[in-house]
Amino acid sequence: MPAFTAQAPAKIILFGEHAVVYGRPAIAVPVTALQTRAIVRADPHASHGQVHLLAPAVQLDAWLDELEPNHPLRRVVELTAQELGAAYIPACQITIQSTIPVASGLGSGAAVSVAVIRALAAYLGRALPDETVSAIAYEVEKIHHGTPSGVDNTVIALRKAVFFARGQPIQPLRVGRPFLLLIADSGIPSPTALTVGEVRSAWQQNPTHYEALFDQIAAIVVQARSLIENGSSDHLGDLMNRNQTLLRELGVSSPELERLIHAALRAGALGAKLSGGGRGGNIIALVSEVNAPVVAQSLEEAGAKGVIRTTVQ
Ligand code: PMV
Repeated sequence: MPAFTAQAPAKIILFGEHAVVYGRPAIAVPVTALQTRAIVRADPHASHGQVHLLAPAVQLDAWLDELEPNHPLRRVVELTAQELGAAYIPACQITIQSTIPVASGLGSGAAVSVAVIRALAAYLGRALPDETVSAIAYEVEKIHHGTPSGVDNTVIALRKAVFFARGQPIQPLRVGRPFLLLIADSGIPSPTALTVGEVRSAWQQNPTHYEALFDQIAAIVVQARSLIENGSSDHLGDLMNRNQTLLRELGVSSPELERLIHAALRAGALGAKLSGGGRGGNIIALVSEVNAPVVAQSLEEAGAKGVIRTTVQ
């Protein structure tokens, strides 16, 4: 039986998380060292329309119609079939494999959606444009956390650095000169819904203060965009540190993230901040080829559960 396979990368937010939920811009980039893969194979032994889902990493082994109607995988399969006008799906098995850690700010949910949408569309004999893939994944992101900005599905579907603002046309970001980042995992799972909800409650209680913080973050994102486009990435470090100060003020940092950030800066990183929802998950540090190994070692000594190198290009 032929297999229809599609891959989707992880992502990190470089600048602008949380403020992006409130209409400010953010910059996000794909991380190709981590991937989710979906494989669709016809199942000649199953009855018509039966779809079997296998995701060993999350102990899922189920028929599609056994899942809750609002289960993200059920929704993604149904929305893809609906988009393609397929009245039923010829019996098949969908296997999902992923090296992207769950609930760590790396976009694992959106990557699963994008990989499944593309593999299923190929199985059904069609390819979908990136914008449609992103739009379907966005519907599923809403199940993961009520008010997603849409940045995860956009960058993962496009596989390119993006300057993203909710409700505006997607703007791919030209990277003037590649630069190197380390991504260090605190090992603490942190569902995005939780921190997004907490920021929302705080914003509801004091909108003026929080709107001002979001505006300051937006100004940093705009400056970062021109530095990245002009190839002046060495100067991004200062903006990362300033963005982190504002994230701390939003209340989404944690002692564990701060420990990693300080370890990176002490070892010579040009800048460091949390990335994604915060509280747990990952931090990112801007490094040079020369100091990358020392910074990585310092992060590990400070308790990082894993350190990944990625070149933004
Ligand atoms: O934790 P992640 O990678 O899903 O990133 C969340 C980013 C937020 O800005 C906090 C939420 C969003 O929907 O953009």
